[in-house]
Amino acid sequence: MQVKKYLLKCLHRLQKGPGYTYKELLVWYCNNTNTHGPKRIICEGPKKQAMWLMLTLLFASLVLWQWGVFIQTYLSWEVSVSLSVGFKAMDFPAVTICNASPFRYSKVKHLLKDLDELMEAVLERIVASEPSHTNATKALNFTIWNHTPLVLIDERNPRHPVVLDLFADSHNDSSPVPGRTCNAPGCKVAMRLCSVNRTVCTFRNFSSVTQAVTEWYTLQATNIFSQVPTQELAKLSYTGEQVILACLFGAEPCSYRNFTTLFHPDYGNCYIFNWGMTEKAVPSANPGVEFGLKLVLDISQEDYVPFLTSTAGARLLLHEQRSYPFVKDEGIYAMSGTETSIGVLVDKLERKGEPYSHCTVNGSDVPVHNIYSDHNTTYSIQACIHSCFQDHMIQNCSCGYYLYPLPQGARYCNDKDFPDWVYCYSELHRSLDQREACIGMCKESCNDTQYKMTISMADWPSEASEDWIFHVLSQERDQSTNITLSRKGVVKLNIYFQEFNYRTIEESAAYNIVWLLSNLGGQFGFWMGGSVLCLIEFAEIIIDFVWITVIKLVAFSKSLRQKRAQARYSGPPPTVAELVEAHTNFAFQPDMANHGPGPGADPDGQTLPIPGTPPPNYDSLRLQPLDIIESDSDGDAI
Ligand SMILES: *[C@@H]1O[C@H](CO)[C@@H](O)[C@H](O)[C@H]1NC(C)=O
Ligand SMILES: *[C@@H]1O[C@H](CO)[C@@H](O)[C@H](O)[C@H]1NC(C)=O
Ligand SMILES: *[C@@H]1O[C@H](CO)[C@@H](O)[C@H](O)[C@H]1NC(C)=O
Ligand SMILES: *[C@@H]1O[C@H](CO)[C@@H](O)[C@H](O)[C@H]1NC(C)=O
Ligand SMILES: *[C@@H]1O[C@H](CO)[C@@H](O)[C@H](O)[C@H]1NC(C)=O
Ligand SMILES: *[C@@H]1O[C@H](CO)[C@@H](O)[C@H](O)[C@H]1NC(C)=O
Ligand SMILES: *[C@@H]1O[C@H](CO)[C@@H](O)[C@H](O)[C@H]1NC(C)=O
Ligand SMILES: *[C@@H]1O[C@H](CO)[C@@H](O)[C@H](O)[C@H]1NC(C)=O
Ligand SMILES: *[C@@H]1O[C@H](CO)[C@@H](O)[C@H](O)[C@H]1NC(C)=O
Ligand SMILES: *[C@@H]1O[C@H](CO)[C@@H](O)[C@H](O)[C@H]1NC(C)=O
Ligand SMILES: *[C@@H]1O[C@H](CO)[C@@H](O)[C@H](O)[C@H]1NC(C)=O
Repeated sequence: MQVKKYLLKCLHRLQKGPGYTYKELLVWYCNNTNTHGPKRIICEGPKKQAMWLMLTLLFASLVLWQWGVFIQTYLSWEVSVSLSVGFKAMDFPAVTICNASPFRYSKVKHLLKDLDELMEAVLERIVASEPSHTNATKALNFTIWNHTPLVLIDERNPRHPVVLDLFADSHNDSSPVPGRTCNAPGCKVAMRLCSVNRTVCTFRNFSSVTQAVTEWYTLQATNIFSQVPTQELAKLSYTGEQVILACLFGAEPCSYRNFTTLFHPDYGNCYIFNWGMTEKAVPSANPGVEFGLKLVLDISQEDYVPFLTSTAGARLLLHEQRSYPFVKDEGIYAMSGTETSIGVLVDKLERKGEPYSHCTVNGSDVPVHNIYSDHNTTYSIQACIHSCFQDHMIQNCSCGYYLYPLPQGARYCNDKDFPDWVYCYSELHRSLDQREACIGMCKESCNDTQYKMTISMADWPSEASEDWIFHVLSQERDQSTNITLSRKGVVKLNIYFQEFNYRTIEESAAYNIVWLLSNLGGQFGFWMGGSVLCLIEFAEIIIDFVWITVIKLVAFSKSLRQKRAQARYSGPPPTVAELVEAHTNFAFQPDMANHGPGPGADPDGQTLPIPGTPPPNYDSLRLQPLDIIESDSDGDAI
């Protein structure tokens, strides 16, 4: 009943306004709309009518096209960037300092003994043109060797490369016999990597012996260190007291105690100044060297692991507070025997975020678990990519890569427990799919801070001052009157803000909703003189149109049912439409002559109650409006 009432109301509204045929609706609309074109279509003569119709349609399509363009532009979510440069009091960056050598050779010698002997033998074999038979009897531990041996590939005949073992019968632990060597230009060194059963073997080729042996040694050392707990490893590395000889921040003295220790598999113990984890970050009020951080470091070059680290110096990284220092990926070297001055400019990039750019605020919406979160560090894309790689490593090789932190419940790879991990790792490392998958998953962070550095260097200490400086430093270090330091072991660093210490690149929306609306309105107004209300009028007309259609459909279906019902009686009685037309238009009379004498026509056909139709409803739907429409049309005619 509710619905019926509602329908009735709608109908009443229709008859009062636009009438209830399509044509009446259209005429009513053209007469009443506030857009300029349609009115003229109605009231002008036929030629002008055509012209106005054309113009209206043309401009309407023009407006629609323009709207499309504007909406498309808006939905492209473009950004404009604004740049600001200047000086303001800012937090001093976190400074991470590492020694280039992760361990002190004197402390890790016992772990690396077998490996170093092997390495010496390998170098001897590769470099010597004639295999030296001199001290070949030295007992080498071939357990290490057999997992990932180095081989020479003789490519002098490119179609049939010959693989030469460095230790010909290395499978025999007892008495290794020198293998064949090859020194011709057509030879190259490669690492042989085999899967568990030695069913699949690949070669990792190198163009230079230096690279080959360094990679090989690093891999083997990784193997050894991964079996030692991290706490133990940290003890084998340099301590803060050894590394940081002097520290001054602005006018305030500081010491190694102001640094946070972080063990880094690549560089051993790293020391972080001003990390902001436990205490507040220190601000720097002024630009210039005098207000920055001044450090003197001792890198103890003489205690480097000979085959592991061939670069000497300090490794340095400036980064944001509470972020993990990816020293290997982003750090810079400071040379020993020099003073390095680093002027810092804070480069801040603020992205707008979804939908303008794909970035993440804190990494919570990235589908990769951050393995660095144990350190309470913030999200960064490096952390994400490393986490992603470690995930894949654990999935495919069932053990974790030594240089990245371990997720819960995983173990680091080593030859003993995971015999084919090197093969698996190098396949994964080489895999483009893996890298693309990780890049695809990881997002940049929305606020990105980078430290742009201006670096200058000079010899330090100068020849004239060398004497007293080393004297003083040596005494401070080990209370000896002898000079125990040398130019090879000391690094001086100055880190300070430049005159302009910040540069902010901020994204803002290039097109906002106000821009969109004013453009849409401008176009509509310019071509058709309309406003939003005109659009509402139009929507109203469309609703009316739908209503009229619905009514017509209802009437049609009713008439259809009626017809069917009457078909059960013998003759075809006049249809509903005919009856209605008869009521509406008195000039029209149903052609009774045709129906009347029809075969088996019911003489009472017209007066028959129509089965299946509820007459009261029907009447209220149909009959009432009729009078009014008639009176309307009468009024128009007058
Ligand atoms: C062989 O090794 C022994 C000790 O291991 C050493 O004394 C000798 O000098 C070595 N010989 C050569 C030729 O290097
Ligand atoms: C060789 O090295 C393996 C693992 O590094 C070790 O278990 C084994 O005891 C070593 N063999 C000898 C003879 O030193
Ligand atoms: C391996 O060493 C054993 C003795 O330990 C010897 O009998 C055997 O012939 C050696 N194999 C090879 C291939 O040299
Ligand atoms: C070694 O290879 C055989 C077949 O070649 C395979 O059935 C077996 O699982 C492999 N062993 C390992 C540890 O993968
Ligand atoms: C290394 O060299 C060998 C022999 O030339 C070749 O068969 C192999 O494909 C190379 N490996 C790679 C990874 O290029
Ligand atoms: C270094 O630490 C001491 C106390 O441990 C503190 O008083 C001093 O302010 C710190 N210096 C800097 C530069 O943070
Ligand atoms: C990003 O930087 C803006 C402006 O400095 C700051 O308001 C916002 O809190 C920062 N967002 C994050 C996640 O640090
Ligand atoms: C990360 O940011 C989202 C909102 O962007 C917030 O709901 C969520 O709690 C944040 N997570 C952490 C760990 O701060
Ligand atoms: C990380 O933060 C939690 C609580 O904020 C703290 O309990 C934990 O000790 C912190 N971990 C590290 C490594 O600082
Ligand atoms: C890693 O494993 C997945 C499925 O377990 C496999 O599709 C993919 O090829 C593997 N990647 C490599 C490099 O072996
Ligand atoms: C200092 O050097 C002298 C001779 O060079 C040496 O006898 C003495 O033991 C050294 N002192 C220390 C503390 O190393």
